[in-house]
Amino acid sequence: MLFSRAASLVLAALQTVPSAAEIIFAGVNSAGGEFAQQILPGAFGTDYRFINESAIDFFLNAGVNTIRVTFLLERMCPLETGLGSTFNETYFGEFEKAVNYITMQGAYAVLDAHNYMRYNDPSMQPQSGSIIGDSSDPQAATAEDLAEFWSELSTRFLSNPNVIFGIMNEPHDMPTELVLANDQAVINAIRSAGAQQLILVPGNGFAGAQRWLNETCDQGCTPNAEVMTAIQDPENNFAFDMHLYFDNDTSGTHEECTLAAPNNLIPVTNWLAENNYTAFLSEFGAGSTPTCSETLNNTINWMEDHSQFIGWTYWAAGPLWGDYFLSVEPGVGPQANTTWPEVLEPHIRSYQPMQRCGVSSSGTNGVFDGAIKALEGCLGLRLPA
Ligand SMILES: *[C@@H]1O[C@H](CO)[C@@H](O)[C@H](O)[C@H]1NC(C)=O
Ligand SMILES: *[C@@H]1O[C@H](CO)[C@@H](O)[C@H](O)[C@H]1NC(C)=O
Ligand SMILES: *[C@@H]1O[C@H](CO)[C@@H](O)[C@H](O)[C@H]1NC(C)=O
Ligand SMILES: *[C@@H]1O[C@H](CO)[C@@H](O)[C@H](O)[C@H]1NC(C)=O
Ligand SMILES: *[C@@H]1O[C@H](CO)[C@@H](O)[C@H](O)[C@H]1NC(C)=O
Ligand SMILES: *[C@@H]1O[C@H](CO)[C@@H](O)[C@H](O)[C@H]1NC(C)=O
Ligand SMILES: *[C@@H]1O[C@H](CO)[C@@H](O)[C@H](O)[C@H]1NC(C)=O
Repeated sequence: MLFSRAASLVLAALQTVPSAAEIIFAGVNSAGGEFAQQILPGAFGTDYRFINESAIDFFLNAGVNTIRVTFLLERMCPLETGLGSTFNETYFGEFEKAVNYITMQGAYAVLDAHNYMRYNDPSMQPQSGSIIGDSSDPQAATAEDLAEFWSELSTRFLSNPNVIFGIMNEPHDMPTELVLANDQAVINAIRSAGAQQLILVPGNGFAGAQRWLNETCDQGCTPNAEVMTAIQDPENNFAFDMHLYFDNDTSGTHEECTLAAPNNLIPVTNWLAENNYTAFLSEFGAGSTPTCSETLNNTINWMEDHSQFIGWTYWAAGPLWGDYFLSVEPGVGPQANTTWPEVLEPHIRSYQPMQRCGVSSSGTNGVFDGAIKALEGCLGLRLPA
């Protein structure tokens, strides 16, 4: 980065230290790195692809400061060597290029392991594959393997303050206590590696915000609200990673919106407040009907009104979607000329100027600390305490 660019980013950041009840991170998912998961390793550009750079330019120019970039663990860590610190350097290089494209412009990139807390057979995601940490499954990767993976990945991004670590997309149909154990192993590994950036911690039940206090699977899994309070982060820089869809089975696969959002966020919002936690809604998406637009808009208004929510990324942009009904990819997505300009973009505009290039964090600890973090982020160094 040129010094003048760095200096102007510092000035911008200093002017934009967020106040309390404010959305710190907002933007979209760029899905695609996990596509064609039945084809391993797959071909870059046709089977999978992380971003279209001009789409990223479009969103950053519109004021977005966060892009969630999805990747597939079986491509990052080939089956031959297993989940751990041995990467496919070609796939990693393609991913790193996408992440750096975003963060070099002062925006934040969420590194999203899009694996449903499973590893070894992504062919029929979200159902296939061995549950990580399942000791009754001899094929399963362990919590230690997952921790080793995150230790390596976070080490590679140690000096990039603009990344956010998304431990795992949508764990489901497993003991909530095992989600907790895996999450905790990853947090410990990332902090032991010396990485201080924000960590997004997923719950069970597809990370569903609407049922955070409910049983999380048909087999009566313990509610996230009862288990996740055991999470410990030595840096105290994490947010719970949650998802929310608005169709009748909260799967995000139907055009119609029938759920009572944002009222169904009341229980989890109260839980967050009671426990002094923050949350990041890293996936939410709705059809383009009038009811959907209203529900979506009200959900974003809810997050803006409740400081427990520090950020959101809409599902989804991405270079390979084609005419997928939720796609906001500029120029091609069916929602690029509807949901994006009508619902999402006005919120982004109202947040301007957004924080850029500060160390990713779960909240703001006063103007002074915020300014220090912004400065450190822009300069890429730690200032003496
Ligand atoms: C990337 O996006 C630009 C502008 O939207 C479009 O013209 C181009 O075809 C896209 N490239 C690919 C490879 O999808
Ligand atoms: C690594 O990834 C590249 C790009 O997808 C692929 O061509 C190559 O076969 C992969 N190598 C292994 C060992 O999976
Ligand atoms: C969660 O439990 C509450 C209280 O029993 C119930 O009203 C609500 O419908 C449940 N939500 C879901 C998504 O199951
Ligand atoms: C959801 O709605 C679709 C039609 O849009 C219907 O086919 C499906 O059975 C419904 N699912 C539930 C759980 O109500
Ligand atoms: C809530 O968390 C913030 C940020 O971590 C901390 O500064 C504050 O002291 C906490 N408040 C309570 C009541 O625990
Ligand atoms: C959206 O509108 C622009 C011009 O305003 C047009 O170029 C583009 O093709 C439209 N996209 C879709 C998906 O209709
Ligand atoms: C979204 O909600 C805000 C606040 O109530 C309102 O000003 C705006 O018009 C709404 N947007 C849409 C598309 O309904």
